[in-house]
Amino acid sequence: MATLTTYATGAVLLVVLAYVFFHLATFLKGYIRIRVMLSKFPTDAPSFIFGHLFDYPGPDDAGLAYQRRHITKFPKTSIMWMMNMPMLLVSHPTTVSVILKSSEPKGPFTYDLIRPWIGDGLLTSKGEKWYRNRRLLTPAFHFEILKSYVEIKNRCADLLVEKFLKAAETASSFRVISNVTMHSLDVILRCSMSYETDCQLPGNKHPYVKAVNILSAIMVQRFFQPWFHNDLIFSLTPSGRSFFKQCKYVHHVAETIIQKRQSHLTQDKLDAPEDGRCLDFLDILIRAKDQDGVGLTFREMRDEVDTFLFEGHDTTSSAISWALYSIAGHPDVQRRLQKEIDSVLDNRDNSDVTWEDLSRLPYLTMVIKEAMRLHAPVPFIQRVLTVDTELDGKIAPAGTLVNCVIYNIHHNPAVWPDSLKFDPDRFLPENVEKRQPYSFVPFSAGPRNCIGQNFAMDEIKIILARILHKVTVRIDPDHKVEKLESVVMRAKNDIRLLVSER
Ligand code: HEM
Repeated sequence: MATLTTYATGAVLLVVLAYVFFHLATFLKGYIRIRVMLSKFPTDAPSFIFGHLFDYPGPDDAGLAYQRRHITKFPKTSIMWMMNMPMLLVSHPTTVSVILKSSEPKGPFTYDLIRPWIGDGLLTSKGEKWYRNRRLLTPAFHFEILKSYVEIKNRCADLLVEKFLKAAETASSFRVISNVTMHSLDVILRCSMSYETDCQLPGNKHPYVKAVNILSAIMVQRFFQPWFHNDLIFSLTPSGRSFFKQCKYVHHVAETIIQKRQSHLTQDKLDAPEDGRCLDFLDILIRAKDQDGVGLTFREMRDEVDTFLFEGHDTTSSAISWALYSIAGHPDVQRRLQKEIDSVLDNRDNSDVTWEDLSRLPYLTMVIKEAMRLHAPVPFIQRVLTVDTELDGKIAPAGTLVNCVIYNIHHNPAVWPDSLKFDPDRFLPENVEKRQPYSFVPFSAGPRNCIGQNFAMDEIKIILARILHKVTVRIDPDHKVEKLESVVMRAKNDIRLLVSER
């Protein structure tokens, strides 16, 4: 009997060992294949254990200077080893276009960090689910809908312009990012859920706004701490507990609003809400139906509202803030811009920027684009290859994590000479014509491009025109501005500007 048990135990052990060995061998075979194929891509010599981990100075000005040196050396592709994990960098229109034209899924890591907040919405979902929902949600960004948001954007702009005027009156240095972020949050809350929070008022303590601010701040911290990337480990830390608590609260608010709206809305009422407000994203999400008459589930609606909120406020406020910073540093550009804005807005009853005005401000559009090139509000995006893919004459194997570094593309000396110079004339039509497509991709490009790009451009144009119509901004010589490269381009200690009334 004892012998039989020994044989049985031996046999089980053997099966377990064979199973482990088989999976280890398959993993190693795959890993070696990836290593060999990726070794064909150019790179600086990696150190034995850490690879290039310690070459990168960090997500600040020094790190961005390192990135610019890196693309000067490797303008099309390069490989970086984070210990034993490879990451393929693409930084040239010819290589980035291959990735962006595909529908390859988002990479893990970065996107997984946001998932507890925004769930499986458009930004993070993939395959059939993404395809269907993208089609369902595209009408939410139709120009007729965007047109109706111009009024909301002007009302939100009133409050921020007021703050700029106050700073001019008191001659105080103005905290740009924190104030602009509240403005952009106000815009997206009103446009996505008709949610009024007074979030732009000084000292506002609205719990929803507090929760979103906490989530955004913790996201930045978490991003830089790889040991907190695992949800379980993170949830055991004080920041993690706070993060998941705020996620729960934000979800609860969105769910309550959706339920309330669902109970009020019938199909007939959707075309014109009874309370006189314009259609918001939520109205459209509730109405959206595919060809089989199937709409979004309750959870899908919540995920999309949270996704729009996340994608739609930090990104836009980064673009507005850095544009103001560049304008402040270039008085000649500011004068030319103000001349254009005055020619459109002067001699009116009010300073509102109308829908028609948005196409009457070509120089403003050039300035915004040049600021987005220089500062790249979303500095990088990631994909994972599901098939072997040719890039610059070499094959990148399936399974490779690809980093499309938008900041690098916008500073690639092969495309953008003197890339640190702020020169809006780069976007004169005759100059745009000379560049390859995919040279300028602040909103990404291809099937997974930014669905909110026109919404964002309208918002940026309106607020910049409204501000510069009333005030002039200057660099504060006593405040050092340093970039912080996170999922969104931020500044370490905000951007501060001096303001004078015109
Ligand atoms: C200046 C402002 C903005 C910039 C620079 C920006 C940039 C981007 C970029 C680079 C992507 C691609 C992300 C990736 O591939 O991982 C993206 C996707 C997306 N953006 Fe924006 N965005 C901005 C504003 C907005 C706004 C205002 C909204 C919503 C109202 C929005 C909603 C989205 C969504 C839902 C996606 C995912 C689209 C998909 O995969 O189908 N974005 N954005």
